[in-house]
Amino acid sequence: MSDIVIETADRPDGVRVITINNAPVNAISAAFRTQMKTAVEAAGADDAVKAVVITGAGRAFIAGADIREFGKTPPAGTPTLTEMIHAIEDCPKTVVAAVNGAAAGGGLETALGCHWRVAAPRAMIGLPEVNLGTIPGATGTQRLPRVADIETALDMIVSGDLVPGTKAGAAGIVDAVADDTVEAAAAMALEKPVRKLREDDSKLKDIDAGAFDAYRKGMARRWRGFDARFRAVDAVENVVSMDYAAGIRAERDIFAERQETESARAMRHVFFSDREVLRHPSIPKGTEAIPITKAAVIGCGTMGGGIAMNFVNAGIPVTILEMTEEALIRGLGIIEKNYANTVSKGRLSQEKMDARLALLTGTQNYEDLGDADIVIEAVFETMDIKREVFGKLDEVMKDGAVLASNTSTLDIDEIAAATKRPEAVIGTHFFSPANVMRLLENVEGEKTSPEVKATVMKMGQQIGKVPVLVGNCDGFVGNRMLHHYIRQAKFLLEEGATPAQVDKVVFDFGFAMGPFAMSDLAGNDVSYLVSQEALKKYGPSNLRTSEIVNRLYEEGRYGQKTSKGYYLYEEGSRAPIPDPAVDAIIAGESKRLGIERREVSDEEILERCMFALVNEGAKILDEGIAARPLDIDLIYIYGYSFPRYRGGPMHWADEIGLDHVLARIESYWKERDPDHYEPAPLLRRLAGEGKTFKQWSDERAA
Ligand code: 3HC
Ligand code: NAI
Repeated sequence: MSDIVIETADRPDGVRVITINNAPVNAISAAFRTQMKTAVEAAGADDAVKAVVITGAGRAFIAGADIREFGKTPPAGTPTLTEMIHAIEDCPKTVVAAVNGAAAGGGLETALGCHWRVAAPRAMIGLPEVNLGTIPGATGTQRLPRVADIETALDMIVSGDLVPGTKAGAAGIVDAVADDTVEAAAAMALEKPVRKLREDDSKLKDIDAGAFDAYRKGMARRWRGFDARFRAVDAVENVVSMDYAAGIRAERDIFAERQETESARAMRHVFFSDREVLRHPSIPKGTEAIPITKAAVIGCGTMGGGIAMNFVNAGIPVTILEMTEEALIRGLGIIEKNYANTVSKGRLSQEKMDARLALLTGTQNYEDLGDADIVIEAVFETMDIKREVFGKLDEVMKDGAVLASNTSTLDIDEIAAATKRPEAVIGTHFFSPANVMRLLENVEGEKTSPEVKATVMKMGQQIGKVPVLVGNCDGFVGNRMLHHYIRQAKFLLEEGATPAQVDKVVFDFGFAMGPFAMSDLAGNDVSYLVSQEALKKYGPSNLRTSEIVNRLYEEGRYGQKTSKGYYLYEEGSRAPIPDPAVDAIIAGESKRLGIERREVSDEEILERCMFALVNEGAKILDEGIAARPLDIDLIYIYGYSFPRYRGGPMHWADEIGLDHVLARIESYWKERDPDHYEPAPLLRRLAGEGKTFKQWSDERAA
């Protein structure tokens, strides 16, 4: 027998309260649907019951359909969610939803099946199905426009954002907002009549049929590649041309069509990975994080300033240390200008800006940092300077403080060795702009304690980042993989492709930009200097190396900052214009290397760039630098704009099939790049066993 997830209790006033108790967030399982339908039918038939209230136990009202049951066949006789919702709506007694907490997806659809709704002010309400690559599938697209105006309905369904109860009240989605939702809902249930939303077309008459095409145009750029969001508009549009019954049939068809798409599988993978990433195998369950109530940052440059903003945005006071007063004034001035910009765009109030700035303190004195719970160093990328800074921090920081470095290339263990407390040292690798980018790549050293690891993971969440814990190696996970992708992109130029061709293939795959537009943005001078550092560290290589960036550097083609790089840029514009002079530089390099230029297909460009990520990712997994493929996937989605609807490079490779990936890598290794493209041993093993990265990972975790 299935568990009891629906409980009922009768109040003295004749209201029957149906409580959903399906921890942790009252997701709609098969048992839920069956028991709810039975419960409302029983309430409808019971003369002693005057009215009905439906509410949730715990923190949520209903989190939506149980995502873990997607694709599974329910026990025979189980009602569909739509049947359950219609059973609620057909109840002859007034039914009011007491939306005590989150009402997401099927949760809101259930609430809209009730005759009236009361929500708690902070209950989060919406239809986030598009974030799972699908659309609302149980009447949501046909019901929301019957309570809210069409723009609001489209915005909510297409963005998938949840809005608080207060906003839902203002939009007409709920009829009242109250702290004690059950009490208010019971009073409403006794007072109000039965009202069936599916029979109410009054709000639909005013909808302008032309609004949908305009809406599609407006969303085209932002949601490129997110097909479900466009299909959601199609479903909503049916409210003007179809009656309710036809509208929900069409909705159901689109929902079913979406469920088994590659992007829906990818988005479900990201949904669970977003949560799983916090449970890292190297942090024992139950490890307590150190509470962060005060932070310090060393260096108020590009990164230090952005890092400090993250803390004050989350209400955590920060002290920033700089070497000179001049640098301090400059750095704090940039932070202030950033906030003023946001205020001028109307995205932040002056009051909030002032409150945030009040949390910032500048200093030149290490003694002022001592009582911070965490200090993050973001000074120049030089080992000697970093070691000197950590030596000083070791002297002044209180016991138990976390000593973090934002280094992007240096060895965390070497930095830790400059202190007498290496267990307190960890890398917190933010991405630029640090106040915007979601990824926080936390890098554990050999001696980092579990508490310190748990702390930077928790801190990441506290400041609105996606924290991913990785091991210490050259480039860590993100940049180490990127290096292999960029190398292939440059080799493709030498073999016959153009920067515009490569960038277009990568952009069309779903990245925000291709490797060469990205290089022009970050600065080709930076790439050149990094390559020179590597040359100093490792000496010249006998393996194939591209020198295109050296040629660009020699000609002052640093990228956007000098208005020319791989592309030309017109004054005040960031739009890349292909430049024949660059084609000539590249052709010169092909000649110098004795490479006969050929037509390079788009398919080869995509495979060589993306499989380079996958192959290096496989090595990183084998070495244990990333604990699970999902860690790599999130790093690429949140730090490098890998398309979310493809689930990250490792998930994407699993989807394609590792045997196919291996075969392609093997052929490129033999025919195009014998120096760097040898298949990773783990890839060979898994392809041989017919397994995916995920299966391998799940088996190890079991
Ligand atoms: N199905 C299955 N499990 C779910 C779930 C769902 N719909 N929603 C949340 N969970 C799980 C999470 O995976 C997590 O599990 P874990 O502890 O093992 O990691 C646990 O419940 C708690 O989730 P959160 O940590 O996210 O809890 P919060 O309290 O922070 O957030 C929430 C609550 C806002 C409801 C958030 O969980 C959420 O956004 N959930 C997903 C909502 C969603 O996408 N609903 C649509 C489902 S599709 C649908 O309804 C189709 C319908 O139209 C036919
Ligand atoms: P930056 O040059 O903009 O800022 C460094 C700041 O540190 C300067 O303001 C400088 O005055 C200050 N500083 C230098 N030595 C100091 C000392 N001994 N004590 C106090 N302050 C000192 O550099 P940026 O770009 O902010 O980089 C900082 C760190 O972040 C580096 O380790 C870098 O590798 C890393 N990083 C940089 C990224 C980027 O895109 N710029 C991305 C991720 C990490």
